[in-house]
Amino acid sequence: MKIMQTFLVLAFTIASHAVQASNDVEEGGRLYKTYCSACHGTEGGMDMSKRVAPPIVAVRMHYIGSYPDKTSFVAAVTSWVEVRDASKTLMPGAIRKFNIMPPVSVAREDLQKIAAYIYQGEIDKPAGFDEHVEQQHGNNRMNDGM
Ligand code: HEC
Repeated sequence: MKIMQTFLVLAFTIASHAVQASNDVEEGGRLYKTYCSACHGTEGGMDMSKRVAPPIVAVRMHYIGSYPDKTSFVAAVTSWVEVRDASKTLMPGAIRKFNIMPPVSVAREDLQKIAAYIYQGEIDKPAGFDEHVEQQHGNNRMNDGM
């Protein structure tokens, strides 16, 4: 009986953590639309001369490359938005192309949800993105603003 109780408590705890995490990602998606998608969305597609910022899927690619686990990814994205500093950029080509990201004021708690969404949510991807990455084979990505 005791074992059963322990098991149930454990199962419930794990399940509620999972629900919490997926709620955060969902809310992060809504917050992303409010605070980030005007610049990082699909507007302008893959034509960098028509865009004001790299597509968010390109940002995810660069950040996952350096921060593969969720905790460090969320910390890095949160820290970037709080203090944009060219010395810690992972996208120097994007800074050359678009200039450094302007300040965007978002509460830390909300930023963490946005970052969780960018890490694991169904994020914006302009048509042609995959083909572009395929073509570049990673060669010039740092130079074309992505
Ligand atoms: C007003 C336009 C604008 C908005 C709004 C905006 N960004 Fe950006 N962001 C940029 C530009 C331009 C760059 C590319 C230059 C750079 O890296 O600083 C960028 C780059 C980034 C990078 C990569 C930074 C690097 O150089 O390593 C991250 C991460 C990022 N944005 C996250 C966000 C998040 C999260 C939000 C929403 C809370 C957001 N941005 C909102 C314009 C914007």
